[in-house]
Order: sequence, then structure tokens, then C-alpha cells
Amino acid sequence: MTIDLHNWTSADREALMTLCNAVDRTFLSDRLPYPYTEADADLWLGMVAENDGKEGVWRAIVADGQIVGSISVERMAEKQRNSGSIGYMILTPFWSQGIGTEAVRQICEVSFRELALERIVGEVFPENLASARVLEKNGFRLEETKVGAIVKGGKAMDVRVYGQAFG
Ligand SMILES: CC(C)(COP(=O)(O)OP(=O)(O)OC[C@H]1O[C@@H](n2cnc3c(N)ncnc32)[C@H](O)[C@@H]1OP(=O)(O)O)[C@@H](O)C(=O)NCCC(=O)NCCS
Repeated sequence: MTIDLHNWTSADREALMTLCNAVDRTFLSDRLPYPYTEADADLWLGMVAENDGKEGVWRAIVADGQIVGSISVERMAEKQRNSGSIGYMILTPFWSQGIGTEAVRQICEVSFRELALERIVGEVFPENLASARVLEKNGFRLEETKVGAIVKGGKAMDVRVYGQAFG
């Protein structure tokens, strides 16, 4: 299987909507709209076109030519501008085939090159063992657990912070 990261374009609107409406949201933050509409897709693709390479890198995960997921590293604010925050999601039928691990490897390379970051962090709910594993396999280490730090579905959840620094 070939696994590549592609820049998002307006031609990907349908694939983006399919992805965002079908993805397993158990461990995703509440900021992803549901249902995910054409308007949501257009707004997001516009944001990406404006900010890619400056405030973040946003890519489609493409397996054997098909968009199966999304991955990004977003630059953090102000005094943490040397750091980026990683996020990713893959459609359930494509899990456990090494796609997430390879996508994280590639987006780390892209974001260090294009954003000149010195550090990337990923925030993971404690129960999301697959996500933690994908980060660990790419050299991220558990740095801290923030208790009750993220509200999801109206409930305060613990979050584990994984980080990797590049000197
Ligand atoms: C997290 C996610 C991207 C992982 O993608 P993936 O393509 O399945 O990842 P990979 O196949 O590269 O690796 C998954 C690893 O987790 C392990 N794993 C999967 N489910 C697991 C579980 N329930 N418990 C422990 N390990 C698990 C796999 O065995 C594999 O590790 P290994 O290679 O050492 O065997 C995918 O599950 C996903 O999109 N989830 C929904 C969205 C999400 O949670 N995003 C992250 C938010 S922080």
C-alpha cells in the first residue's frame, strides 16, 4: 500500500465531507462540526488555503490513491510559536494497517521543514491507546497528564500530552 500526504484543494470538498461525517468521533474534540456540511468544508478549505505553510500544515492522508484521513500540525500561539500541535483522523475501515504511524512520520517532516518548528505535541485521551501508540512509534514521549483539562460532550476529561523536541 502507498501512503502519501496531499495538499487539500477545493476539488476535495466531497471527500472531506465524507470523511468528517463518517469518522469515529469517540476520541475527537468537540470542535469538529456534526453534521459536517458543504459550508463547513468550504470554510475549512479556505482557512487551509490561507494559512498553510505559515500557521500550520494540513494534509489529506491518501492510501492507494484514496483519501482515507486528515492530519495536521498547527502552530501554537505567541510564546509557544516554536511549537506545533498535531491532530489526525482516519476512517475506521483503514485502521490498524500502519497508515496512522506513517502519516505522523510524514507530517512531522513536513512541519519541521515548512514551519521551522522545534517541538510538536499531541494531546490524547487516556483511553485512546491506538493514538498514543502511533505517537510513541514516532518518538513522542508522555510528558504530562492534565486532569480534567478538556471538555467533551459536557464532561471534563483528562488528557495525556505527548511531545517531541528537535534541536
Ligand atoms: C488513532 C488512529 C489515527 C490510529 O491510526 P491507525 O492507522 O489505526 O494506526 P496504526 O495502524 O499506524 O497503528 C496503530 C497502533 O495502535 C495499536 N492499537 C490499536 N488499537 C489498540 C487498542 N485498543 N489498544 C492498544 N493498542 C491498539 C495497534 O496495534 C498499532 O500498534 P502496533 O503497530 O505496535 O501493533 C485511528 O485509530 C483514528 O483515526 N482514530 C479516530 C480519530 C482519533 O482518535 N484521532 C486521534 C485523536 S488524539
